[in-house]
Amino acid sequence: MTKANRPILAATDELTEAVGLDLNAALAPLLEQRHQAPIIRPSRAVDVAKLIDQSYPRGDESLEQLVAQITQATERYPRRNTHPGFFGWVAPSGLPSDPLAHAMLTVLNENVGGYWASPVGTTIEKTVIRWLADLVEFPAKSQGVFMSGGSMANMTGIASACAKRFGVEYRSLGLAAFSDESRPVIICSQAAHFSIRRAAVMLGIGTDNIVTIDTDDEFRMRADALEAALAEHDNIICVVASAGTTNTGAIDPLPQIADLCSAQNVWLHVDAAYGAGGLMSAKLRPRYRGIERADSVVMDMHKWFYQSLAGSLLLYREPGWARQMFTESSDYLRMNEDDSPEQFGFFSLSPELSRRFRALPFYISMRHYGLDRMGRNALHNVQCAEYLAERVCVEQDMELVTAPQLSILCFRFRPAGLDNDAVDQLNTAIRDRIEREGDYLISPTQVNHRVVLRVCIINHATRAEHVDGLLDSILRIGRELAAQ
Ligand SMILES: Cc1ncc(COP(=O)(O)O)c(C=O)c1O
Repeated sequence: MTKANRPILAATDELTEAVGLDLNAALAPLLEQRHQAPIIRPSRAVDVAKLIDQSYPRGDESLEQLVAQITQATERYPRRNTHPGFFGWVAPSGLPSDPLAHAMLTVLNENVGGYWASPVGTTIEKTVIRWLADLVEFPAKSQGVFMSGGSMANMTGIASACAKRFGVEYRSLGLAAFSDESRPVIICSQAAHFSIRRAAVMLGIGTDNIVTIDTDDEFRMRADALEAALAEHDNIICVVASAGTTNTGAIDPLPQIADLCSAQNVWLHVDAAYGAGGLMSAKLRPRYRGIERADSVVMDMHKWFYQSLAGSLLLYREPGWARQMFTESSDYLRMNEDDSPEQFGFFSLSPELSRRFRALPFYISMRHYGLDRMGRNALHNVQCAEYLAERVCVEQDMELVTAPQLSILCFRFRPAGLDNDAVDQLNTAIRDRIEREGDYLISPTQVNHRVVLRVCIINHATRAEHVDGLLDSILRIGRELAAQ
């Protein structure tokens, strides 16, 4: 190329020059919105679309204009997981330290694939993983990797179980080569999260090859039924237990499950995506007894660790199987040529290569608030759930369906004289009205095929007054509807 062809775009970097914004001022209205009612406003997609400029961009809008557009749209049509009256699904509140942490990791823009790509990021991430592994009481040799969410982390844990079950040839031959004598199966309870089914789909195992174990009266995996299933099947990839099921917050009997798995050398994967946040409290930790015997554990930072979306930790007791599964080499990237920390790569522990600096928000919040304070909040969430259960039990027209094992409980408004179908309809109407009123939000679900009101308390800002307010609203609406 001659000098005459030397490309000229602009004298300086015009994309940088085009930006000029006071970040604090831009975020202030959004920060204010976080605790404002309504939590959600009924909307039609067509109305939301009207607030979002969908014309092809000309590139002539200021960042202030764009901030205003998004702020106004979310003000009009919010969905505020951040609100202390939000009790739905398993949605994260986010921490006040998160905007800073997320801004930092975005500005740094390091790819925490491994030490060479991010020496500081990798060191921080390994540090955080060690803290969390210590909470689970995993051995010093254990390792982990942050992933995008519990669904991906569950799938990756099960993939690593395949590596152990089928050996090194699994990588080249695939699952079919190990399916001749008996079909490879995953065992989990009826109450396991549906991400286990999707993992079975994506890993080519197939949902028909999930062996589903019955649960007891408290929706925990029945150990006797697991024992029978383990005796019946001889090509078992892993047993998946839950430390906090999504619907009722049940913790499977981990010590018995661990005994059964270790007797047959079967991989035990514990899905603690929701429940693990409770480990921050020393008072709650005994409830998870047995988790320390798992082969892999999933814990979502963006659930009960209060972190903003998104990050999930997958922990391996023995990381060698994951390495066997995921280590690749390529001309352009050298991976783990020796065991030195400078060669360390997270990309050998999961299928992800480029990785956001997901551990930074947790590092900052743990150092800023400390484990004791974070744990005190988790304990408070559980105490709020237990308090709500007590209040439900004393009301004549309420029925507690599942008591909180952690911070989730389910109950029904059940006035005398109504049959089950009528009670279902009434509770659906109550939930819908709560949502329309906007001060609280609970998610719809069913337990034993009956509609219940499910409350999940994982917001650090939630106080007993919000719990009281929710129950008072349910009683007011329920009694009003029942009288009609
Ligand atoms: C127990 C459990 N496991 C896995 C998941 C999936 O996690 P994610 O939404 O982070 O993919 C959830 C989601 O609520 C869950 O409750």
